Amino acid sequence: MNPQIDRDRLLSEIDALAAISDAEAPAVTRVVFTPTDLRARSSLVSLCEVAGLNVRHDAIGNTFARWSGSVPGPAVGTGSHIDAIPNAGKYDGVVGVLGGLEAIRALQRSGFRPHHPIELLIFASEEPTRFGIGCLGSRLLSGTLPADHARKLVDGSGESLETVRQAAGFSGQLEDVRLPADYYKGFVELHIEQGPLLERQRIPLGVVERIAAPATLRILLEGAGGHAGGVLMPDRQDALCAAAELILAIENAARTRGASDTVATVGMCDVFPGAVNSIPSRVQLSLDIRDTNLARRDDAMRDIERATQDIGARRQVSIRSTLLHADKPADCAAPVIEALERSCGEHQFPFLRMVSRAYHDSLFMSRIAPTGMLFIPCRNGYSHRPDEYAAPEDIARGALVLAETLARLSS
Ligand code: GLV
Ligand code: MN
Ligand code: MN
Repeated sequence: MNPQIDRDRLLSEIDALAAISDAEAPAVTRVVFTPTDLRARSSLVSLCEVAGLNVRHDAIGNTFARWSGSVPGPAVGTGSHIDAIPNAGKYDGVVGVLGGLEAIRALQRSGFRPHHPIELLIFASEEPTRFGIGCLGSRLLSGTLPADHARKLVDGSGESLETVRQAAGFSGQLEDVRLPADYYKGFVELHIEQGPLLERQRIPLGVVERIAAPATLRILLEGAGGHAGGVLMPDRQDALCAAAELILAIENAARTRGASDTVATVGMCDVFPGAVNSIPSRVQLSLDIRDTNLARRDDAMRDIERATQDIGARRQVSIRSTLLHADKPADCAAPVIEALERSCGEHQFPFLRMVSRAYHDSLFMSRIAPTGMLFIPCRNGYSHRPDEYAAPEDIARGALVLAETLARLSS
């Protein structure tokens, strides 16, 4: 077996997918279950069918494309997502989906015949854009998100996940999405690093050992509004001033942890009533806090809670935090790490063992399958922005190592 990646075809498929977008190029916006997302998925399904794979969808819209093995039973899985946050780039998730498909096609062309089936998975809604919680597809597959919970999710315009996914053509019970624990023999996700380390160290591949996990909170601050001229400064209960202090306390809680893996971000801030001459009476913030170490993340969250109480009392502003989810970090599985490293070694490709500070569907797949991840560099570590870029040779190298790893795991 000597798989050859068709780099030009893979790159042109990545470009073609990027053109299916609700943002002007080079930006990509593809929010789950929008007509654009559905158009992108159906173009992928066509590619999978042309490759002779058997395609099925589940009730949340995860797509499975299977290459049968000589024995039925547990499959070797690979894949990622194609939904993209507003104003994103064209490689996040897509490299793992189209790179996974090209890895399968390269194995087919090489004459390899899998013993265990090999399956490409296109996860539904990895990004939290629409329903406020990331990795909906893999959470349901792994039983991490109970179906009852998922049914209560609504998007920003008040439409329920149930309505939206059914209108998109995904019917059936969410309960049935969960996979049995022996469904996958192994799972490997190829992804851009979304950080600068590989590029800085000039190492072409990263083998992930541990995946950081986020907790997400919604924080509502309520003070008192009023006339921007009339209310004297000592009498104010300005919700935005309290939010400003809290945002800096959040930054401080992450910065002072002593580990670069602790990160905290306030990415959304809605101010009410939002008028130039009106004191803000209500502010809603989002908080995304992550770590590879659960105890350390919990410590940072306790610091934030203390700051919340202090700021609220001092400024006479009510502050209520709602925890949307708090996930546990995951370890990648030794047999998958070993298969990845042996595949790198075969070509003398240098690799770095690393952690993933971004979360991925693999975080949840690791609950039901031995899971690993392979990273390729991306320019300046940029991701979630239109100038996200991965070099053709890095993409092709990643797909090649993925192909050989899938072959190893399916033999
Ligand atoms: C995934 O997109 C993340 O936010 O880590
Ligand atoms: Mn992303
Ligand atoms: Mn991603």
